This record gives sequence, structure tokens and C-alpha cells, in this order.
Amino acid sequence: MNLALMGGSLRPESLNGRLLGHLAREASARGHEVAAFSGRALAMPLYAEGAPAPAEALALQEALLGAQGLVLVSPEYNAGIPGHLKNAVDWLSTLKPSPWPGLPVLLCAASPGAFGGARGLMAWRATLANMGALALPEVLTVPHADQQLEADGAPSDPRTRAQAVRALEAFLSLAERLGPRR
Ligand code: FNR
Repeated sequence: MNLALMGGSLRPESLNGRLLGHLAREASARGHEVAAFSGRALAMPLYAEGAPAPAEALALQEALLGAQGLVLVSPEYNAGIPGHLKNAVDWLSTLKPSPWPGLPVLLCAASPGAFGGARGLMAWRATLANMGALALPEVLTVPHADQQLEADGAPSDPRTRAQAVRALEAFLSLAERLGPRR
């Protein structure tokens, strides 16, 4: 399958960016084509009605339209969605065709905190539901990520590792069942 991954913060040491790299390699190891969007690829000008869509938004739109599913790896900022990611999503929701309706999405988050970014993922659910994307009930949250993420982005805690495999496999299974989107 063609899969897309997006997320991470804009800082080079992003824990979520590291987790995204790990999940991209896991999906790739299962035989899937992956297109990953992080860092500058998600740093778009603030959405302004009437302004032309930036090249980054068009590239992401194209990748999501051609993807059977999206793995979204989001930091939690103030119990919500970080501004750069919400901005990217808002740009994409204004483009025709919108890539969101019917897109299976696996929600993931990493945080140094004890809740692993779980509250931010609840905010993502509201936004994704509004756009018609299909957020899976299974999620991956990595608490204490500053301590438990290995250099390659793999979680060191066996329970978190098991959660990662369960969530990824549930996502791949749903994306397979729904089939290609174009
Ligand atoms: C945070 N952080 C944070 N963490 C959390 O678990 N819940 C929260 O509500 C917040 N809020 C928050 C707001 C802002 C403005 C910043 C900059 C940070 C901490 C955050 O999880 C931490 O900085 C992560 O390391 C951010 O993800 P990356 O950059 O490592 O991917």
C-alpha cells in the first residue's frame, strides 16, 4: 500500500519526529511504500482566505490523495493540536479535492509527560471527524518519551512497543480492507 506519515514539531530534535521515523521504517519493513512529511514540509504560511496555496500544501494534498492511510504523529501543545499542524490541515481542507474524506488515520503522540500526549489526540479526533477522516479507535501514545524513545525512535518500554505493534497492525488492516482511494 501507499501510506503517508505526517507530524513532529519544527525543532530538529523533535521526539515526535523521531517516533515518526520509527513508524515509517516499521511500515516499510512490512512491504509498504511510505511518504513522510515533517519539519519544514509542514511549516506553511498561516492560512489566509484568498491567498494561493503554498507548494508544501499541494505536495501534501497529492500524497494524501494517493495514500491508503495516514499515520499522524503529533506533539500535544496545551492539551491541543500544535499550530503548525492545525495550519497544514486547514490548508488541505480548503483544497479541491480535499484528501480527508474516507482517509484512515492512526493517531500517535509522544510527550515527556505522563499522559504521552493523549489529550492532544482527543482534539485531533474532533478536527478529523469534521473533515470526514476515519480516525482509528486504537492510538499510540508514548509517555516519558524523552527517557523511553531510543535514538532510532523505537519505544524502550515493552508495553509501549506492544501498543505500537497493535496500533500499526489495526491501522494497516483497516487501510487494506478499505482499499485504494483512487
Ligand atoms: C508543550 N508540552 C506539552 N506536553 C504535554 O504533554 N501536554 C501539553 O499540554 C503540553 N503543552 C505544551 C505547550 C507548548 C507551547 C510547548 C512548546 C510544549 C511539552 C511537549 O510535549 C514537549 O515539548 C515535546 O517534546 C514536544 O514534542 P517534540 O518537539 O519533542 O516532538
